[in-house]
This record gives sequence, structure tokens and C-alpha cells, in this order.
Amino acid sequence: MKGLVLAALVCALVPSIRCVTPEWCYNGPECNDTTWPVTFSAFCNGTRQSPINIDSASAKPNSNLTAFTFQNYDNRSALQLIENTHNTARINLGSGVKISGGGLSGSYDSLQFHLHWGNGSSVPGSEHTVDGRRYAMELHIVNTKSSYNGNTTLAAGDPTGIAALGFFIEVMPGNATGQPEAWRNLTSYLTNITNSGDSVSVAPGISLDDLLVGVNRTKYYRYLGSLTTPSCNEAVVWTVFKDSIKVSKDLIDLFSTTVHVANSSSPLLTYTYRKLQPAQPVTTQPDSSSAITTYSLVLMALGLALGRTLY
Ligand SMILES: *[C@@H]1O[C@H](CO)[C@@H](O)[C@H](O)[C@H]1NC(C)=O
Ligand SMILES: *[C@@H]1O[C@H](CO)[C@@H](O)[C@H](O)[C@H]1NC(C)=O
Ligand SMILES: *[C@@H]1O[C@H](CO)[C@@H](O)[C@H](O)[C@H]1NC(C)=O
Ligand SMILES: *[C@@H]1O[C@H](CO)[C@@H](O)[C@H](O)[C@H]1NC(C)=O
Ligand SMILES: *[C@@H]1O[C@H](CO)[C@@H](O)[C@H](O)[C@H]1NC(C)=O
Ligand SMILES: *[C@@H]1O[C@H](CO)[C@@H](O)[C@H](O)[C@H]1NC(C)=O
Ligand SMILES: *[C@@H]1O[C@H](CO)[C@@H](O)[C@H](O)[C@H]1NC(C)=O
Ligand SMILES: *[C@@H]1O[C@H](CO)[C@@H](O)[C@H](O)[C@H]1NC(C)=O
Ligand SMILES: *[C@@H]1O[C@H](CO)[C@@H](O)[C@H](O)[C@H]1NC(C)=O
Ligand SMILES: *[C@@H]1O[C@H](CO)[C@@H](O)[C@H](O)[C@H]1NC(C)=O
Ligand SMILES: *[C@@H]1O[C@H](CO)[C@@H](O)[C@H](O)[C@H]1NC(C)=O
Ligand SMILES: [Zn+2]
Repeated sequence: MKGLVLAALVCALVPSIRCVTPEWCYNGPECNDTTWPVTFSAFCNGTRQSPINIDSASAKPNSNLTAFTFQNYDNRSALQLIENTHNTARINLGSGVKISGGGLSGSYDSLQFHLHWGNGSSVPGSEHTVDGRRYAMELHIVNTKSSYNGNTTLAAGDPTGIAALGFFIEVMPGNATGQPEAWRNLTSYLTNITNSGDSVSVAPGISLDDLLVGVNRTKYYRYLGSLTTPSCNEAVVWTVFKDSIKVSKDLIDLFSTTVHVANSSSPLLTYTYRKLQPAQPVTTQPDSSSAITTYSLVLMALGLALGRTLY
């Protein structure tokens, strides 16, 4: 840890020295998320950090949060490569996968998605929580402003350069196994990436739409935050969908029982999420039921005020 701090200090004080990015991790005693604000002090100690707990009752209605347009999310050749990055399983997407709408300022390219998990289906590991509830897993699709042409360094320097889509994954009720089929297909590649640095091509056959099954993508939370991994750049427009993807227990269990931090003699990758950061203002679609509730509260308040005046 002292070595890392020193390295970070030298990097900060002598920018001309070409510095090797220090290591970070989820579970090591000297590189876990409590050390990030020190080791990666440029941003990880900032004031709009992610993930957060979303308090659903405090989410303010915002009519700008319209539907998204998803381009190539139905393309069954868009998933290109799956890789063990030492901290997650990441799937790179081909070019032409894009999003727009959804209250974003323009078009964003979908570059990759990856997952966060706990320890099997019984120990949840989503990054965001809603009203204190942590879900089994969370899938993040990382998108950068199309004008940056996939240059993530440029996107990370723009306060809205990155649009991240967060999808919760929950255990499918009942005793189903190997469901949904697209998830069985995707998880079948985990045995090919058990070691850090391993990667393998994904065969055509599954699309993003197939994986995002069961989620009504018009219902979501929105806030401004950061990358949840170092260097925690505060460049992210977060979208966290309210509905969850339901995946059978056996498939969720595969993540924490197949992929290793380094190799077969190193620990399995577990608890791959950053701890919660201070809350941020969250907005969501105005919905008719909450409008009615607000209306009746106003009426009640008026009634009380009138009552006071009359009696
Ligand atoms: C995380 O790192 C801190 C600082 O090095 C250490 O005190 C703590 O025990 C670590 N926690 C885990 C779970 O390893
Ligand atoms: C984060 O740490 C850096 C370096 O120590 C410091 O300059 C900065 O003020 C800190 N930021 C916050 C929000 O604490
Ligand atoms: C909605 O979008 C308009 C136009 O971009 C902007 O002026 C307004 O502040 C936005 N409203 C909210 C609640 O974000
Ligand atoms: C589907 O994605 C692949 C890989 O990015 C691309 O080559 C192909 O043109 C796309 N298909 C369509 C119909 O856009
Ligand atoms: C994860 O769960 C398994 C099975 O319950 C257990 O053996 C293992 O020790 C757990 N791993 C961690 C890191 O807690
Ligand atoms: C991203 O853009 C910066 C600034 O223009 C440039 O220095 C860098 O080489 C670019 N990175 C890639 C991977 O193209
Ligand atoms: C699940 O399996 C258990 C034990 O095999 C059985 O008792 C139960 O009825 C099953 N539940 C469903 C929803 O099929
Ligand atoms: C993935 O691993 C399985 C064995 O677990 C093997 O049969 C298969 O050929 C591998 N696939 C690729 C694309 O390497
Ligand atoms: C599932 O994955 C395998 C590779 O593991 C691939 O060959 C096959 O075409 C896929 N099937 C479907 C239906 O996507
Ligand atoms: C998605 O949610 C919206 C808003 O609640 C609703 O109007 C729409 O019918 C839903 N779509 C589906 C396919 O359920
Ligand atoms: C496995 O990874 C550990 C930790 O990175 C390393 O010390 C060890 O040499 C590796 N073993 C093999 C067989 O590569
Ligand atoms: Zn993530």
C-alpha cells in the first residue's frame, strides 16, 4: 500500500515521468476499494462517485426521460469477444451498436458490457442498490459519446462523455435451470476464460435484446455519477433500469465458481462490486400514479388549511 501511495504521489508531482497504472482490486488487503481514494486520488475521492443507493421515494419526476432508441441491440453478431480482465468478465461489442434518446444529449456508441456479482445466487453483488436492496448481479453497458469515436480517454474527460446502462439480475423464481437460453449460451464461455487475460470469440447467435429479456426499458432512474472502478472518472450519465433480468440460479452461480482472479491457484472472482458512495439527486419518469398522489396531498393540505381558517 505504501508503495502504491508513493507511486501515485510521484505520478502526481512529476507528471513527466511515465507512470505505470497502479493495481486495484476488490478483495486484496492493499488494493481494495477503501484504498482507491488514496491510490487514485484524482477522482476516486470526488463528490459525484458511483455506485449509490437509490431511494425510490426521493426520485424526482423528470419528463425529459423519454424512451431510448437502441441500434443493433437485436443484432445476433454484435457480441465479439469475452475476456477475463482480472476484475470482471467483459464482452466487447462490434461497431454500429448505439443508443440515443433517453434524455441523453445525442448518440452514444455501446462499446462493451461487463458484470458485477457477489458470491453465487445467495450472496448478492449488484453495485447499485434500490431502497437498500442489493440484487444478485448487475450488468453494465458502457457507451461513449459517438463524437469521440470510441476514444475512452476523451470520453472520460467529459462530464457527460459516458452513458452507462445498469441492469439488475435477479434469481429466476421456481426451479428452472439453464434459463434464459441466451444466458446459458453466454455463461458457457466462462470455462474458456478462467484465467486473467484469457479471451475467446463469441459465436453469432445471441443479441443484447436476448440478454436484456423482461426489462421494460422505458422505466429507469437517472443520475450523474462516475465510473465504479479506478480511475473513477466523474464522466458518467447513469441509467439504472427498474425491472430486473431473471436468470436461473445455476447460471448465476457459474460466475463465482468458474472465473479466477489470476489462475487456477488464485482465488475465484467474487464480490466484484464497489461499496456504496454518498447519495446523488436521482430523477425518473413522471408516472400517473405518483402525479395522483401529489395531487391528493395538495388537496389534503388545502383542506387542512381551510379547516384551520374556518374553525
Ligand atoms: C481493505 O483494505 C484496507 C486497507 O489496506 C484493509 O484495512 C482492509 O482489511 C481490507 N479489507 C479487505 C476485506 O481485505
Ligand atoms: C482528493 O485528493 C486530492 C489529492 O490528495 C486532493 O487534492 C483533493 O482535494 C481531494 N478531493 C476531495 C473531494 O476530497
Ligand atoms: C429538460 O430538458 C430541457 C432542454 O434540454 C432543459 O432545459 C431542462 O432543464 C430539463 N429538465 C430537467 C428536469 O432536467
Ligand atoms: C451486426 O453486427 C456486426 C458486427 O458489429 C456487423 O458487422 C453487421 O453489419 C451488423 N448487422 C447489421 C444488420 O447491422
Ligand atoms: C463463497 O461461497 C462458497 C460456497 O458457499 C464458500 O465456500 C466460499 O468460501 C465463499 N467465498 C468467499 C470469498 O466468501
Ligand atoms: C484519444 O485521444 C487523445 C487526444 O486526442 C489521443 O492522444 C489518444 O491517442 C487517443 N487514443 C486513442 C486510443 O486513439
Ligand atoms: C422445486 O423443487 C422442490 C424440490 O424438488 C419442490 O418441492 C417444489 O415444488 C419445486 N417448485 C416449483 C415451483 O417447481
Ligand atoms: C471452450 O471450452 C470448452 C471446454 O470447456 C471447449 O470445448 C471449447 O472448444 C472452448 N471454446 C473455444 C471457442 O475455445
Ligand atoms: C451458443 O453458443 C455456442 C458456443 O458456445 C454456439 O456455437 C452456438 O451457436 C450458440 N447457440 C445459440 C442458439 O446462440
Ligand atoms: C412499459 O412501461 C410503460 C410505462 O409504464 C407502459 O406504458 C408500457 O406498456 C410497458 N411496455 C411493456 C411492453 O410492458
Ligand atoms: C498464478 O497466479 C499467482 C498470482 O498472480 C502467481 O503468483 C502464480 O505464479 C501463478 N501460477 C501459475 C501456474 O501461473
Ligand atoms: Zn461496471
